[in-house]
Amino acid sequence: MYQANEDRYNSMSYRRCGKSGLVLPPISLGLWHNFGDVDVLDNGKQMLHTAFDNGITHFDLANNYGPPPGSAESNFGKILKSSFLPYRDELIISTKAGYGMWSGPYGDWGSKKYLVSSLNQSLKRMGLEYVDIFYHHRPDPDTPLEETMSALDLIVKQGKALYVGLSNYNAEDTLKAVKILKALGTPCLIHQPRYSMFDRWAEDGLLDVLETEGVGAIAFSPLAQGLLTDKYIKGIPEHSRAAKATGFLQKETVTQEVIQKVIKLNTIAKKRNQSLAQMAVAWLLKDDRITSVLVGVSSEKQLIDNLGALNNLEFSASELEVIELVLKG
Ligand SMILES: NC(=O)c1ccc[n+]([C@@H]2O[C@H](COP(=O)([O-])OP(=O)(O)OC[C@H]3O[C@@H](n4cnc5c(N)ncnc54)[C@H](OP(=O)(O)O)[C@@H]3O)[C@@H](O)[C@H]2O)c1
Repeated sequence: MYQANEDRYNSMSYRRCGKSGLVLPPISLGLWHNFGDVDVLDNGKQMLHTAFDNGITHFDLANNYGPPPGSAESNFGKILKSSFLPYRDELIISTKAGYGMWSGPYGDWGSKKYLVSSLNQSLKRMGLEYVDIFYHHRPDPDTPLEETMSALDLIVKQGKALYVGLSNYNAEDTLKAVKILKALGTPCLIHQPRYSMFDRWAEDGLLDVLETEGVGAIAFSPLAQGLLTDKYIKGIPEHSRAAKATGFLQKETVTQEVIQKVIKLNTIAKKRNQSLAQMAVAWLLKDDRITSVLVGVSSEKQLIDNLGALNNLEFSASELEVIELVLKG
């Protein structure tokens, strides 16, 4: 029987999520990869134990994580039952709906029908009565924003989620959605954008909207799915995400141009006595608008490496300048 480390809260300092009452760990764990039926359950269990033992209280899922879709939630449900039920009130568990999940017209996008049905399915798969955060996973160009937001509001009022969030919404649509949610009495807790040194669209307005509206931000794919580590410097290792048939990182993304930047960033990280993964996480956390950085890992070792980022979140002006120069190429 799993017994959580008694010292788990001693060294983590939590960050307030926007202007809400909720705090989150600066590093959270995502279950997009490595928790499906194609993966080894015991490895997933070990990573979740290590995360919680180190003060990571937030685990992020979605209806479609796997493969096959739904299996990450089912596997998480098994681990929750065997290890985490005594700790349920210490955990922030999120899930999402917005991408294709089942056949027919009601298993995708942003209708009230889809969102409510999908969350019911997610709760069953995880064996939960409620999730802490429910996200609309991506904007739907065809469903009125009012309908999607009122579905989120309904879900909270039904007690199936405590908070709601948005993911992949641009700045303009985020502002509209946040205002609708506010009027409904269910404030938007958090936004989940893709954000890393290699992908900075969130800096073009979104982070400003979130700050002004008091909404938190959790950055996904902070290591650009593994590119912002030293693992691809000498080619594509077997078992890496880029090598796996089920991985979302395409081999073609690992170009010489990218690797040249990675080599230079790795040198800067070394001078800071950090791994490149640690520097990539720290670089996001230097901005206090970022509530949490949502990493994925395929081993306990990677998770421990990433946690080491928290030992040095400070950057000198000259370090930031050199990083900018490298990123601009
Ligand atoms: N809202 C959305 O639309 C959306 C989309 C994508 C992701 N997300 C969320 O964000 C989470 C994280 O995304 P992500 O998995 O793409 O994040 P990521 O942290 O950018 O990439 C994770 C991958 O990087 C590698 N890695 C991690 N730490 C490492 C280390 N210290 N040293 C070497 N390699 C390391 C591992 O690759 P290997 O497997 O090759 O070892 C790992 O699988 C997801 O689990 C999910 O919860 C949300």
